[in-house]
Amino acid sequence: MAFPKDFLWGAAASSYQIEGGGLSEGRGECIWHRFSHTPGKVQDGDTGDVACDHLHLYKDDVKLMADLGLQAYRFSVSWPRVIPAGTGRVNEMGLDFYDRLVDELLRYGIQPYLTLYHWDFPQALQDKGGWASPDSVAWFAEYTEVMTRALGDRVRSWITLNEPWCISILSNLFGQHAPGLSDPATAYRVAHHLHLAHGAAMGVIRQNCPGVPAGITFNLTPTEPADPNKPEDVMAAQFFDGQFNRWFLDPVFKGTYPADMVAFYGDALDGLDLDAVKAAAVPIDFLGINYYNRTVMAASGEPNLPADAEYTEMGWEVYPQGLTDLLVRVYRDYAPGAIYITENGAAFDDPAPVDGIVDDPRRVEYLKGHLLACDNAIIQGVPLKGYFVWSLMDNFEWSFGYSKRFGIVYVDYATQQRTPKQSARFYQAMIAREAV
Ligand code: FCB
Repeated sequence: MAFPKDFLWGAAASSYQIEGGGLSEGRGECIWHRFSHTPGKVQDGDTGDVACDHLHLYKDDVKLMADLGLQAYRFSVSWPRVIPAGTGRVNEMGLDFYDRLVDELLRYGIQPYLTLYHWDFPQALQDKGGWASPDSVAWFAEYTEVMTRALGDRVRSWITLNEPWCISILSNLFGQHAPGLSDPATAYRVAHHLHLAHGAAMGVIRQNCPGVPAGITFNLTPTEPADPNKPEDVMAAQFFDGQFNRWFLDPVFKGTYPADMVAFYGDALDGLDLDAVKAAAVPIDFLGINYYNRTVMAASGEPNLPADAEYTEMGWEVYPQGLTDLLVRVYRDYAPGAIYITENGAAFDDPAPVDGIVDDPRRVEYLKGHLLACDNAIIQGVPLKGYFVWSLMDNFEWSFGYSKRFGIVYVDYATQQRTPKQSARFYQAMIAREAV
């Protein structure tokens, strides 16, 4: 592989998944706190109360990043840690944590990539309607104002939202994530307000952080028909692509919703001013893409994946070619000026450390394959500027609790001991070789 010399090598994590600290230090309750404390919602009754205790161990974690040679770290801010009720009073202790984290990163020359929203929505605002309320646009702008004023002089890059599909559809239609609702109208209302909130937040970032790159992160999946010769399979794939990818890409890049999907959703969109979505189409400096797997659709609506493929512990197919396909397609159809892979990685059933070594050969192969896929996209002209592995360390994998390990660093949750896995050593060597 031969990456451009200025290619950025990073790792990602998010606030609720690693910070811990419960509701101490003035942190307000978030919807994941409420959800995970509701029996039956998260596997084994796990919560993010302690997680990786990153709140207290962040200095060790930054040192570890520096040892691995990471050039950038993508983290998110817990909105209710900074503004406990979601709007109004700022919790100085909460803000101070991110202030210290950013300084610690910069001390080691690691670029802070800050995601404003990675799912830990203030419960107090959920009680007022959450993202389904039109007021959520102003709430998010206010929070963005606070963060950009506090850290705008040091953050290297801003990401407004992480994975609007998950925030809207997975959480409000499929009910698998907090707040755990199953209502189509709510889900599309949430998605609409997310688009508007992104546009509003971009305006605030532009004003307070002139010249600092900013964008948004989508989880996208390349979608293929099970049988390209069957028109009904082709239609099913097109519908899935519309629901999962285009419903989010089109507003941000074109300022419109895809017409075929508007017709399909019909009544579920009642009451929404769809034209207002043009406010989402403000220029962004980069698109963040989280890639995990592809989708193969048959007319039945059932996924149609090969039985003999390799699957991760999440049941996700390992398919690096999909990453190249996705990057080429997104660049062709939307032409973002720059793209970052803001997440890519895999959960495997890793063994506990033996003599300080965690052998995870499948993750090493996974990373090799997907980095090669990135390289292939660059060769085809895609302006891919960097890669963030998901994740820096094992953490709270949402409704799967601590049962899925995505880290390149192993976390022993009983002792909070961190052990770089062999995949971390691979990544470290890769960075050392490519980034000279
Ligand atoms: C993504 C999330 C991230 C993590 C990975 C496995 O959808 O953004 O927090 O859960 O999946």
